Amino acid sequence: MCGIVGYAGDKNVIPVLIGGLQKLEYRGYDSAGVAYLDGGKMNVIKEKGKLAGLEKLVKGKCAEHTIGIGHTRWATHGEPSCANAHPHINMVGDLAIVHNGIIENYLQLKESLERKGIRFVSQTDTEVIVHLIHYYLKDDLKEAVSTAISKLKGSYALGVISERFPDEIVAVRKDSPLVVGLGKGENLIASDIPAILEYTRDVYFLNNGEIAVIKKDGVELFDEVLNPIACEPYTVEWDVSQAEKAGYPHFMIKEIEEQPRVLADTLTPRLKDGEVCFDEVGLTDDALKKIKKITIIACGTAYHASYVGKYIIERFARVPVEVEIASEFRYKNPIMNGDNFVIVVSQSGETADTIAALREAKKRGAYVMAIANVVGSTVAREADSVLYTRAGMEIAVASTKAYTTQLMCLYLFCLKLAYAKGKMAPEEYRANVSGLAAIPDKVADILGQKDLLQKFAYEHFTEKSVFYIGRGLDYALAMEGSLKLKEISYIHSEAYAAGELKHGTIALIEEGTLVVAVLTQGDLIEKALSNVKEVTARGAVVLVITQEKYKDMAKDVADKLIAIPDAADFAATMTAIIPMQIFAYYMAVQKGCDVDKPRNLAKSVTVE
Ligand code: F6R
Repeated sequence: MCGIVGYAGDKNVIPVLIGGLQKLEYRGYDSAGVAYLDGGKMNVIKEKGKLAGLEKLVKGKCAEHTIGIGHTRWATHGEPSCANAHPHINMVGDLAIVHNGIIENYLQLKESLERKGIRFVSQTDTEVIVHLIHYYLKDDLKEAVSTAISKLKGSYALGVISERFPDEIVAVRKDSPLVVGLGKGENLIASDIPAILEYTRDVYFLNNGEIAVIKKDGVELFDEVLNPIACEPYTVEWDVSQAEKAGYPHFMIKEIEEQPRVLADTLTPRLKDGEVCFDEVGLTDDALKKIKKITIIACGTAYHASYVGKYIIERFARVPVEVEIASEFRYKNPIMNGDNFVIVVSQSGETADTIAALREAKKRGAYVMAIANVVGSTVAREADSVLYTRAGMEIAVASTKAYTTQLMCLYLFCLKLAYAKGKMAPEEYRANVSGLAAIPDKVADILGQKDLLQKFAYEHFTEKSVFYIGRGLDYALAMEGSLKLKEISYIHSEAYAAGELKHGTIALIEEGTLVVAVLTQGDLIEKALSNVKEVTARGAVVLVITQEKYKDMAKDVADKLIAIPDAADFAATMTAIIPMQIFAYYMAVQKGCDVDKPRNLAKSVTVE
């Protein structure tokens, strides 16, 4: 949802900005631009389309010992175009801003500014901000920014530069992420850490309302009323190599292949003497025992992970679980109070709907535990406790390793809860914990079947519609498999609870329709097989994903069968999703799609 970068230092600011934007392009890629001071004069260069267009325009340009800001856009207000691209400038062209977020009252502000004689040149909500700052600007840029934002309703992360204040970038945020990078003789701002990792690992996550003044030699921080505040930096553990493709053609396949490692990273530190240890979360067994009902809230892939969470928590811990789509939850006047234990699941920790749902839950007195990937993200900071997935940086827009590590966290929580509540005998608990411990190696084995899936994808990439079916946990998985396919290959796809097909959707199955049947759960496999037979009887071509141990039962209904190594059934979600991720990847590659940056999508959805 738009990426912002800013730099104050001695280097040629243009390649620094472009390099930062390259690392943020996953956040939006319909237009991009930079503004920088050169010889004290404002220069603004913008281009429609992906960043490559802007890169061509700025090639060979040099501006050292100066400041600059850059932006990659995901359009909300106004079509993707040069005029709507950021940075936006005031009428005299000596002030420039970049913005991530949405200004909800921009129309009223625009009308009032137009009455003052200001002419607008874009259709964006952002342009009102630059004119407001100009309007309030006297002899202190941060004061003008502070007054301007007091008029705004909505969300924003802003970077502002001015010819009149040639040494500084003013940055502020509300409900859109912004990180300050603290370097030596150079300082930066960015929407996300990868954009600044090349220069520093010391960062400060701006809190809502805080204003930062970034200069080459230092960063000053102020609270909402402009009192100075101390900067407590955080040192990032990731390194630059995680933001590189490392020889892979796409981030997505790199991230798929990282799953054995990141699953082990997520699991191993939480195991002690064969038991789940949650010291970092601060949830005692006594606190767990008191949990009576759980609501899991998330969006997209994280929502699908939450669904798996529901199945396993209800099965093992016998606690009722509701799963809510964050964008629905926030407006439904939810029935929630201090008796509810809420889990919010988010890779980025910056998804606007998820943050709003978290706040709604807290407002109603619920305890909120986050399962988040990005350390220091808003979700992680605002929740009462955090269980971090250790997926590392996820760059491909389509989530893969974040999903499986979310599952791992949900499993850990589930086993710990079930045991604390006395719903699982010690032997069963230990057996289930070792079932989880076996998963990373099994995932590694499945990656060895890539070629088979690639071949199958190449035979089917022209499909117009694909159905994913399963029962129980397999249905939860089918939802995620289907999302992976549609988001990156643009092939229509639907996930169905296998037993529900005959209540309407089976009408869509015809000769040659591709159906992916997920059959990993022993207690449901016979029922699920009957459902598969219902589609084969109508001419469907079936790709079966099953475990080795069920292969013989499933082979007769399969046109193609992928047998994954045997795992404990309850944990087979983390293995069975891998072939679906790989299949979606190769379908998209064969169709020539931009796998890492699918159309209309952005990695971090920081708008409603
Ligand atoms: C799909 C995908 C999205 C995200 C969703 C929530 O592959 O990545 O559906 O899962 O936008 O994002 P986070 O987890 O960052 O809150």
